[in-house]
Amino acid sequence: MFLKDCKIISNVNVALNYFILTVENREAVEKVRAGQFFMLKCKNEATFLRRPISLHNCDPLNGTLEFLYEVKGKGTLEFSKLSSDETINIQGPLGNGFNVEEKNKNIAIVGGGMGMAPLKLLIKNLNLNNNVKLFLGVHSKEYINVLKSFETVIEKENIHIASDDGSIGVKGNVVAIFKEELERSKFDKIYSCGPEKMLEALHEVAVNNNILLDISLEERMACGVKACVGCSIKTKEGMKKICYDGPVFSSSKIIELHPKEKVENSCCN
Ligand SMILES: Cc1cc2nc3c(=O)[nH]c(=O)nc-3n(C[C@H](O)[C@H](O)[C@H](O)COP(=O)(O)OP(=O)(O)OC[C@H]3O[C@@H](n4cnc5c(N)ncnc54)[C@H](O)[C@@H]3O)c2cc1C
Ligand code: FES
Repeated sequence: MFLKDCKIISNVNVALNYFILTVENREAVEKVRAGQFFMLKCKNEATFLRRPISLHNCDPLNGTLEFLYEVKGKGTLEFSKLSSDETINIQGPLGNGFNVEEKNKNIAIVGGGMGMAPLKLLIKNLNLNNNVKLFLGVHSKEYINVLKSFETVIEKENIHIASDDGSIGVKGNVVAIFKEELERSKFDKIYSCGPEKMLEALHEVAVNNNILLDISLEERMACGVKACVGCSIKTKEGMKKICYDGPVFSSSKIIELHPKEKVENSCCN
């Protein structure tokens, strides 16, 4: 794990409140795995906790890491104002990441909203040895630049898009278009990241069709390194920490995505 001030190469507003931050970190590029995340430090001391952001992509040739993030609150707003003459302190890579060892499988990758962030590097890895189809759900065509950027890692005809308002792709939700594709295609495994409701619906589809589903989970995180209790989740193997045991879990191991007895994290500021 690295804790390092990294030179910012660029920080580009790619769609509405979505940005791609590219930083230089040659050592980390050699070690990262799709699905892992980094804790990014804010300079403003009022926002003293680091913010967890997934690795979106990496470029071993240039020694750079890419983060796709959405401005939600004060931390990500601060990130959006960083420019290429500055540095940012990042800690990671953290978490387990996705299993990218699969070979000769028919794989579906399903992402909703900002859940598409960890999927680019995953596709890049899996598409080398498998037949991959990508299903992405967004609000509207305003996100077209982000969607188009996936065409650099997977053939356009294997990308299926759903949007809430129908302004791009099919009107509706991404799980519905995946279900339709299931009538035509067979899948050995699904990988997914997105809102909890989407993951729940996808889990039901996976169970009904006897397909393995690996999901990347999000939770507010205080430390990111299993030192608090902020990110605990109930699984069939007991309580697990999303930052350390995850963020990727087999959906069959999760008892509930909204645990009623969830340990509340009172220190996330
Ligand atoms: C493992 C992991 C990977 C993540 N990867 C990405 C990524 O690649 N890109 C990205 O844009 N975001 C990602 N997130 C979510 C991101 O960490 C939060 O959006 C961010 O910390 C919000 O910080 P803030 O200071 O801007 O907002 P805050 O001011 O802290 O909060 C603003 C709003 O965002 C909500 N929020 C805060 N933290 C989270 C969280 N962890 N998950 C969901 N909602 C949250 C709050 O409840 C509040 O409604 C990831 C989270 C985790 C746990
Ligand atoms: S965020 Fe502190 S234990 Fe996971």
